[in-house]
Amino acid sequence: MRKKVTIVGAGHVGESCAMYLAQTNLCDITLIDIIEDMPQGKSLDLCQAGPIVGYDCKVEGSNNFADMEGSEIIVHTAGLPRKPGMSREDLLNKNANIIGGMAENAKKYAPNAMILMVANPLDIMTYHAWKVSGFPTNRVFGQAGILDSTRFRTFVAWELGVSMNDVQAMVLGGHGDTMVPLPSYTTVGGIPITELISAEKIAELAQRTRVGGGEIVKLLKTGSAYYAPAAATIQMVDSVLNDRKRVLPLSAFVDGPYGIKGQYIGVPVVLGGGGVEKILELKLNDDDLAALQASAGKYKGVLAEIGY
Ligand code: LAC
Repeated sequence: MRKKVTIVGAGHVGESCAMYLAQTNLCDITLIDIIEDMPQGKSLDLCQAGPIVGYDCKVEGSNNFADMEGSEIIVHTAGLPRKPGMSREDLLNKNANIIGGMAENAKKYAPNAMILMVANPLDIMTYHAWKVSGFPTNRVFGQAGILDSTRFRTFVAWELGVSMNDVQAMVLGGHGDTMVPLPSYTTVGGIPITELISAEKIAELAQRTRVGGGEIVKLLKTGSAYYAPAAATIQMVDSVLNDRKRVLPLSAFVDGPYGIKGQYIGVPVVLGGGGVEKILELKLNDDDLAALQASAGKYKGVLAEIGY
C-alpha cells in the first residue's frame, strides 16, 4: 500500500501542497477542509491532471477528520491568512482554536502520525499542536526555515546573476520579522557569499528576506504567499517519506541548544523517517546568537498570550 499524507486546509497553501505532492507520486493524499464539497472538487481536478502530468496516486477530498486515519504525516495549512497590515501574531487566537481542533483529531484518528505545521504564527502554532496532541517532539515540527532560506537564496542568485540551484542558505529563528539569516552559512557553489557580495548589500538582501512574506501580502492584498510555502512543505514531506535525512532549517523543539529552553524555533535539523532526528548546533557569532535568542524570547512572550 502507498503511504498516505493528509493535508488539512484546502485553501491556496493546502491546494498547492496537494499539487506539488501529487507530482512527486510519493503517497496517496487526503485533502480535508470544513467547507462542504470544496476539497472534493479540488481533489477531483488534481486527479484529472494525473494522466497528463504522469502521477497515479490517489487524491481524495473530505470534510471529515476521521479520514486522517492511517496518515504518516498530517500537514496543517488551515487558518486565516494575513491581510495587509496584520502581523502573524494577530492571527493568534483564531488560528489556535483551529489548530487545537486538528490536534485533538490527530490524537484520536492518527495517533502515530507526524504533524507538519504550516499555519501562522508558525512557531507558536507548532508548539500548540505539540501540546494538544501530546505527540513526541520529533513527530511535531513546523515549516518556515526552508521558505525563509529559499527567499534568501532567490535574492542572492538574482544579485549575482547565477543559478538559484547553486545557492544554499541558512535562516534561523522564528518565522517572522525577527528571523536570523546567516550570511556566513550562505554559499554559492560552496563559496561563502561574504566573499562575493558587499556587507551592505548582504544586509539589504537579508532584510528583504525578513519581510519577504509581508512583501507578498502587500502585493496580493487578499492573502499571503502559497507557492513557495507549499514547495518548502513538500520538500519536508519528501525528506521524511524517503528517509532522506536532509539537513534543513525548520521549527523544531529546542531544549538546550543555542541556550534556548523548551520552545519551538527555527534551527537546522536532520529530517528523516523518524521526523526530527537531530538538532544541529552551529557555531554562531555573538550577534547572530543574540539575534536568535532574542527571536526565541519574543515568541516566548507570545506563547504566554495563549496560556503557556
Ligand atoms: C509567508 C507566510 C505565509 O512567509 O508566512 O509567506
